[in-house]
Amino acid sequence: MVAFDNARRRLVITGGAAGTGLLFASASGGFAHAAGKDHGKGQEKEVGAVEDLMREHGVLRRALLVFIECVPKLRANPASVSAEALARTAKLFRTFGEDYHERRLEEPYIFPAVKKAGGQAASYIDVLKAQHDRGREVTDYILAVTGKGTLSGDGEPLARALESFVLMYQNHTAREDTIVFPAWKEVLSTRQLHEMGDRFEDIEQQQFGKDGYEDAVAQIGQIEQVLGLADLAQFTAPPPPKA
Ligand SMILES: [Fe+2]
Ligand SMILES: [Fe+2]
Repeated sequence: MVAFDNARRRLVITGGAAGTGLLFASASGGFAHAAGKDHGKGQEKEVGAVEDLMREHGVLRRALLVFIECVPKLRANPASVSAEALARTAKLFRTFGEDYHERRLEEPYIFPAVKKAGGQAASYIDVLKAQHDRGREVTDYILAVTGKGTLSGDGEPLARALESFVLMYQNHTAREDTIVFPAWKEVLSTRQLHEMGDRFEDIEQQQFGKDGYEDAVAQIGQIEQVLGLADLAQFTAPPPPKA
């Protein structure tokens, strides 16, 4: 059996089935991966600082997928799009993405260290920060438009805002995952990295008063459910045409 204790980064392996390389799903829908090593009873595994940031991106990407699914519907028939579901998605992006992931982790810890280290990754920092700021403006707009309860009239301005927001953040998070986070990891010692992992966990507790990540995963799961996007199989591509 695998369970999370209060400090969510610590995965406590409590049973003999652990260590077999199986993938376990927690009751709340989160996942914990037991690597193929032999872990004894009560042994803890930690989610490192970089893995933490990257899985937060996973939640944000799922929000982006909700947004992009709504774009053609907004163009065809805005009234058919749930304003409430869009508003919930934008609120999640605000609280978990902008106020926590960006403002509390990336901007105070990752960006200054990477910029100071110089090199290719450093040259991305100003643009990434400008994108955080632009993202906030767009989120304000989405919240204002969807806060009215129903979507009617011209859906094009909202469709366009969502489209450009999604394109920006797809590029943004992909650069952070492949260039900026690895550069940050490079400048820290193993001990510093470990300390950052603990600090991130403390910040998350401060910010949310609970397990913010698990809660965000549950929230995006509920939104997907409401919008009929929860079934992963629907996104399996059809077979390609004959060449
Ligand atoms: Fe960012
Ligand atoms: Fe990020």
